[in-house]
Amino acid sequence: MRFVVDQQVEDIEMPENLKLNTFLQEFHSDCTHPECGFGFYGFAFGQSPFPVPKLIQDALIKNANKGKYAPVPGIPELRNAISKYNKHYFKMDVSPDRIYVGPGTKELIFNLLEILHGTVILPTPAWLGYLPQIRFLKKNYHMLPTRANKKIATNDLRHLALRLQDRQKILILNNPHNPTGLLYSRLELEEIADVCRELNITVISDEIYAQTTYDFSKFVSMGKIFPDGTFVTNGLSKSHAAGGYRLGYVIFPQHATDLKAQFKKILATEYTAVSTPIQHAAIPGFEISPELDNYFETTRNIHKIMGEYTFSKLTSIDGIKATKPESTFYLLADFNAYAPELEKAKITTSQKLSEVLIVHPYHTAIVGGIV
Ligand SMILES: Cc1ncc(COP(=O)(O)O)c(C=O)c1O
Repeated sequence: MRFVVDQQVEDIEMPENLKLNTFLQEFHSDCTHPECGFGFYGFAFGQSPFPVPKLIQDALIKNANKGKYAPVPGIPELRNAISKYNKHYFKMDVSPDRIYVGPGTKELIFNLLEILHGTVILPTPAWLGYLPQIRFLKKNYHMLPTRANKKIATNDLRHLALRLQDRQKILILNNPHNPTGLLYSRLELEEIADVCRELNITVISDEIYAQTTYDFSKFVSMGKIFPDGTFVTNGLSKSHAAGGYRLGYVIFPQHATDLKAQFKKILATEYTAVSTPIQHAAIPGFEISPELDNYFETTRNIHKIMGEYTFSKLTSIDGIKATKPESTFYLLADFNAYAPELEKAKITTSQKLSEVLIVHPYHTAIVGGIV
């Protein structure tokens, strides 16, 4: 039997970080030398290193018997808890009916791109998850390269949007940002929102790293600045170290009643609802408690120590530049000063550099930046 794969799928590339994972596995299995049995320093995967908060683990055990399908947008108790969580941490008044729960924000962003008409504006550098989705959906898109400070320049956004013919444009904003670790200030968000209002740009604001902001008082949600035009996505994956639970949520813009009905149709068609025990387990993850507060504070501080240490060590090497992270578990390093030497060693792409760094005696896993 010969199977023919749809061209649309053939055209999609495996994400760089997963490619690296495969490379690592193959490297280990193909190599019989004892020195190949190494562990490695992993900076390549968006995996939080902490345990899942105990209260979430306990709730999962307690709710293992919940075998019924959940309502499509999520169970009411969870949507209520997420609403209160947003009020407490992000100072946003969001009624539970604006909140839809899904199996991770990656899927929810995909679903939003499915229902929203228009050309996508993707600022770069960007998390490597967006582009394959945009391509798979055959959407029109334009990259918006950022300048030296690696943040969206509002003038560039305006010029690009003015050139686009679509009556609606979709900006993918990622704040705090993977891979730079940078955070947008309130003023920067306000300036972006002004352009979006003026030129009818809808915003998908991926805020999955919000809780990891080192100085949490500095984080401002785009949902607060531009509530009538922003879809905010967030979830358990990074802040609660529970990527494997596959639970995220999207907050719909104010007054988007018709759109919610369309969205519900898509969710019902594609996955019915998130696993019911996982939804119950997530409730204490969004309830306000001293235990959770303490967890966020401790993990934030550790991210800060790691981010600042990595930044200072990297930039102490002559010629290497890096973004100074204010959040997340990433920074973007620029090795171009070493391009001539690397070229002599036949290292001409960042992908190749990441493969070589794995094999090198220090065994360091990083993701190449190709865009
Ligand atoms: C910027 C960004 N958005 C979304 C995701 C995916 O999150 P989820 O686990 O909620 O699908 C990641 C994970 O690496 C990410 O880095």
